[in-house]
Amino acid sequence: MQCRFTNVNSPIPQNNSFDFHIVVMKPRKPSDSLAISTQHVLPNDTNNLNNLFGGRLLEWMDVIAAVSAHRHCRRVVVTATVNHVAFHQPIPYGSIVTLEAKVSRAFTSSMEVFIDVFVENPVTGEKVKSNEAIYTFVAVDQNGAPLPVPPVEPETEEEKKRYDSALRRRQLALILAGKMKAEDATELKALFTQPATGA
Ligand SMILES: CC(C)(COP(=O)(O)OP(=O)(O)OC[C@H]1O[C@@H](n2cnc3c(N)ncnc32)[C@H](O)[C@@H]1OP(=O)(O)O)[C@@H](O)C(=O)NCCC(=O)NCCS
Repeated sequence: MQCRFTNVNSPIPQNNSFDFHIVVMKPRKPSDSLAISTQHVLPNDTNNLNNLFGGRLLEWMDVIAAVSAHRHCRRVVVTATVNHVAFHQPIPYGSIVTLEAKVSRAFTSSMEVFIDVFVENPVTGEKVKSNEAIYTFVAVDQNGAPLPVPPVEPETEEEKKRYDSALRRRQLALILAGKMKAEDATELKALFTQPATGA
């Protein structure tokens, strides 16, 4: 049995006599997938209390996270799950809202994307974090079948924390989706037996 390793950027030869063809993908940094969007909260975006409607924020987060996942893998991506959303404080009508999304970790075909949401003080211009969310995207081909994506190489302390904790979040999501047995979630189980790292 013969196995060949090919860099993802090299063409795969047509007269391939190898039994396995493993495509090695170059890791990408979270900063490579950074996507930023700035929105103005207009009347159509608000609820009865004149604050940003949660569904509109989810939509903005979904779009910017998809751009980030696409930048990471340069493939068509689909939202697989919304793993976590926190609405820490209301965002009033007229606010300027900035969303920043980065891929925190990639597995085989799936990518975890963190979205941080900031609201700008209209007088000082200071940005205060108001919300955050974690989405999972999957790279797919034209038939919707999952495709491999490059791994992530975190750089900053925050990126490393998010990278490390992504495995636990993935295991929890897969258990809840009925795609993993609880006894196989070793990383998640370790959370209850080891001191927390705060990520
Ligand atoms: C997301 C989708 C491509 C997954 O397809 P699937 O047939 O379940 O494929 P698999 O079970 O092989 O999973 C593919 C990847 O998704 C991940 N995944 C699937 N369900 C998941 C979940 N609930 N949470 C986290 N990851 C999940 C798997 O872990 C796997 O990741 P990996 O390759 O990195 O290990 C498929 O369910 C789909 O197309 N869903 C609709 C997407 C869509 O339309 N989104 C817009 C919503 S409005």
